[in-house]
Amino acid sequence: MLKVRIDLSVQLFSFLVMNFLFSHIVTFESDATRDRDSNWASGLCPENCTCKMMDYPKYKSFFNKTVVCIGVEFVNNVFPENVPLDVQILDLSHCHLVRLSFKLPLKNLRFLDISFNNLKMLDRQIHKLTALRRLIIQNNSISYLQNGAFSGMMFLEVLDLSNNQLYSIEPHTFGGLNYLKKLHLQGNRLHHLSPQWFISMPSLGWLFLSNNLIGRLKANVFETLSGLFTMKLDGNRITHIESGAFNGLTHLRILDMTDNQLQTIPTQELHDLPLLQYLYFDKNPILRIPYHAFHSVNLTMLTMSYMPELKVIEKESFSNLKHLVTLQLHDNSELVYIDPKTFVNCSRLKNLYLHNNKLGSVSSVLKDSLPALKTLHLYNNELECDCNAMWIKQENLKEKSNTTYRSVLFGDSMLKCSAPPSKKGKLLRDLPLSDLNFTCAPVLIPLFKNRYNLSIGEELHLECYTMGLPFPQISWRLPNKTILRKENLQSGRYKIHNNSTFILKYLYETDTGTYSCQAQSVSGFDVKSTYVTVNNKPVRISPEYVAGNFITISWNGTRNQWSMTGYEIHYRQSDRSDKFQIIPLDRRLRQFRYTFTNLTPLTTYMFCIVYVFETELYTVHCTNITTNDLDLNEIGITHINSKMVVGVVTSIFMLLILGCCVFVIRRVGKRKDYLEPLYSNDTESLMDVIPLESMYQGQTTSAACSSRTSLIQSQD
Ligand SMILES: *[C@@H]1O[C@H](CO)[C@@H](O)[C@H](O)[C@H]1NC(C)=O
Ligand SMILES: *[C@@H]1O[C@H](CO)[C@@H](O)[C@H](O)[C@H]1NC(C)=O
Ligand SMILES: *[C@@H]1O[C@H](CO)[C@@H](O)[C@H](O)[C@H]1NC(C)=O
Ligand SMILES: *[C@@H]1O[C@H](CO)[C@@H](O)[C@H](O)[C@H]1NC(C)=O
Ligand SMILES: *[C@@H]1O[C@H](CO)[C@@H](O)[C@H](O)[C@H]1NC(C)=O
Ligand SMILES: *[C@@H]1O[C@H](CO)[C@@H](O)[C@H](O)[C@H]1NC(C)=O
Ligand SMILES: *[C@@H]1O[C@H](CO)[C@@H](O)[C@H](O)[C@H]1NC(C)=O
Ligand SMILES: *[C@@H]1O[C@H](CO)[C@@H](O)[C@H](O)[C@H]1NC(C)=O
Ligand SMILES: *[C@@H]1O[C@H](CO)[C@@H](O)[C@H](O)[C@H]1NC(C)=O
Ligand SMILES: *[C@@H]1O[C@H](CO)[C@@H](O)[C@H](O)[C@H]1NC(C)=O
Ligand SMILES: *[C@@H]1O[C@H](CO)[C@@H](O)[C@H](O)[C@H]1NC(C)=O
Ligand SMILES: *[C@@H]1O[C@H](CO)[C@@H](O)[C@H](O)[C@H]1NC(C)=O
Repeated sequence: MLKVRIDLSVQLFSFLVMNFLFSHIVTFESDATRDRDSNWASGLCPENCTCKMMDYPKYKSFFNKTVVCIGVEFVNNVFPENVPLDVQILDLSHCHLVRLSFKLPLKNLRFLDISFNNLKMLDRQIHKLTALRRLIIQNNSISYLQNGAFSGMMFLEVLDLSNNQLYSIEPHTFGGLNYLKKLHLQGNRLHHLSPQWFISMPSLGWLFLSNNLIGRLKANVFETLSGLFTMKLDGNRITHIESGAFNGLTHLRILDMTDNQLQTIPTQELHDLPLLQYLYFDKNPILRIPYHAFHSVNLTMLTMSYMPELKVIEKESFSNLKHLVTLQLHDNSELVYIDPKTFVNCSRLKNLYLHNNKLGSVSSVLKDSLPALKTLHLYNNELECDCNAMWIKQENLKEKSNTTYRSVLFGDSMLKCSAPPSKKGKLLRDLPLSDLNFTCAPVLIPLFKNRYNLSIGEELHLECYTMGLPFPQISWRLPNKTILRKENLQSGRYKIHNNSTFILKYLYETDTGTYSCQAQSVSGFDVKSTYVTVNNKPVRISPEYVAGNFITISWNGTRNQWSMTGYEIHYRQSDRSDKFQIIPLDRRLRQFRYTFTNLTPLTTYMFCIVYVFETELYTVHCTNITTNDLDLNEIGITHINSKMVVGVVTSIFMLLILGCCVFVIRRVGKRKDYLEPLYSNDTESLMDVIPLESMYQGQTTSAACSSRTSLIQSQD
């Protein structure tokens, strides 16, 4: 009896001591307690689990009272909880658990692994685990997290919620996790990020958001994460990085943006990351790396590979990258051009990977601008084996003849020629130096397709780069054989930018034809062409109802007839030459017919549908319509007069009923309020312009309205 009492009091005492120690985050254990615990948990252990003191590989630490139940199938898939109360490490992964119901206060639990189960939500009881350092919940089916979900776990350092179904996380879900270091949210269904999630996490160093559905990074979303070191955003759908999105990330070193939908390089935003060293930017649909895209960023390594759309690397796109050592620009299957002056002040660049691209040449100027270059991968490109490849050949030869010389070029045996035709398929190293002429004919690198099918008002944008020695001059040829150069260009719809880009604004149907880019030098000539078709808009107008003093016309042909933004109807008497009257068809006009009133009987009117783009007007289609004799019409109206009276009475009656219904519905259920926007507020301002039957046409929901319309139609 006495013994039991002593035992109990010892246990009570040690329990108190432990509590005291843990609540003060003391991380040592006295020898005495350890001896007493050596046969820890004998007898008290869930069936098929292991309960002992051991170093646990998944959680290496000082704490080692471990209960491991990996893969155990519990009755009803619920954890039985007959565990020693002072368990420190608990592994319940792969147990098919559907519910957690911790009723016990496991006040010493440091590590809980409940990954690979079937949990759909988090148990409120989880709050009792106040000593947790690591909580692993990956690969469950949790879809939402509520405010305060982890409250009480104030010492939590690692929270792994990866590969769940999370689509909703309330703003203060992570409130109180002031010591959190790693947050894993990858592999979920998150569409957006909330800045509130991160408010109380000054120590957060790693943030994993890969493989979600995030589409946009909003300004200041990471503002409070000044301690963040690594951020992974790969495998999302990011199309837009708002200015200021990276504000506050003053310690970020590693940023992974691989496999997103970014079409431009966030040049400005990168400057908000003063310590960024590693930037992964592969697999984004970027077309070009423009001038100063990466300017004065403190990067050490940058990757921009596997970009299926990348075609051009422009002049000075990498400038003042004083710490850049490695640049990966390989496996960009459309990359045809890299400017000789791409690199400025990249004095430490050592490794440049340009293999598996479609480059015709890499200038010796480019190589010479990189004093620290040690390795250059150029294999599997489409090399022009003319003077452009001369320096490559010379490097080869130097290395062969001088055993102490190390060429920067890697993969000599893989450098194959793609042009000129006589050398296609040959290895560069097998060609004699004399074969590589000191001049080389111009080679054009067009970035345009063979055909374009455009629509009036659009813009033609053709881009063309060239190589050759001496450097060729570029000109552009129009369908009427006129040659345009930057010099002979007067202002107007034609523009030439940086010699390499031809722009024709406000296309008309008459601009249809062949456009060519030409390059010329003393050593030759090259030309590349494209055929451009300019189509009229497919919109047509036709009379719908003709009377003595009014005409209703309708139009068709656009994919979305409701959206006629940019179109106008111009009309006047066809035998007069006075000004057209103009009716804009903007989006508020929710119908595709229009009635012109106050017309003169037996007169021909010309109606044109006109497309307006910026300052240009395009006549899309015109038609002449003659009004009827007024008498005929009056007969028509008298004829249906009785019908009309009945119709109007019915309409008023139904409107009244409708009004009552609306009133009742509003009274009864507030939820109906969401219907409101259907009755566009904008329509009111058009009331005075548009005849009634036009107004109501779009809102077929109202029964009262159709009778008015049917009146008009019954005359057909
Ligand atoms: C963990 O358990 C083992 C085996 O019982 C023991 O030898 C070791 O001292 C313990 N380690 C710590 C850090 O408590
Ligand atoms: C323990 O394992 C045995 C054999 O695999 C199994 O038959 C039994 O149902 C298990 N018990 C529990 C509680 O999972
Ligand atoms: C974990 O989840 C991921 C993503 O849902 C899935 O691809 C993976 O197969 C899962 N792992 C296991 C072992 O179920
Ligand atoms: C740039 O990065 C280097 C290390 O790559 C670091 O030593 C240096 O302090 C950084 N410079 C700035 C201005 O942050
Ligand atoms: C390259 O560095 C020099 C000297 O630091 C500087 O004068 C020049 O403007 C830099 N060039 C570019 C393009 O930044
Ligand atoms: C051989 O190459 C080394 C290293 O580049 C150079 O210092 C040396 O002058 C070269 N020797 C000859 C004979 O070109
Ligand atoms: C080198 O140039 C000369 C004249 O410029 C030309 O006749 C010859 O065919 C060229 N050789 C090669 C290999 O292109
Ligand atoms: C060009 O586009 C128009 C409409 O956009 C279409 O009707 C026509 O068939 C297209 N022509 C070709 C050659 O694709
Ligand atoms: C060819 O078209 C351009 C642009 O429309 C025009 O400026 C030029 O006068 C035309 N030339 C001829 C010969 O028609
Ligand atoms: C032309 O080049 C300059 C820098 O050389 C650049 O700023 C500009 O954006 C380029 N224009 C176009 C249309 O590419
Ligand atoms: C548009 O209307 C005209 C005349 O009513 C008709 O001939 C034409 O087929 C219609 N076009 C389309 C695309 O519906
Ligand atoms: C309409 O009539 C005017 C004047 O009679 C004529 O010039 C014009 O070509 C006609 N338009 C159409 C589309 O028939």
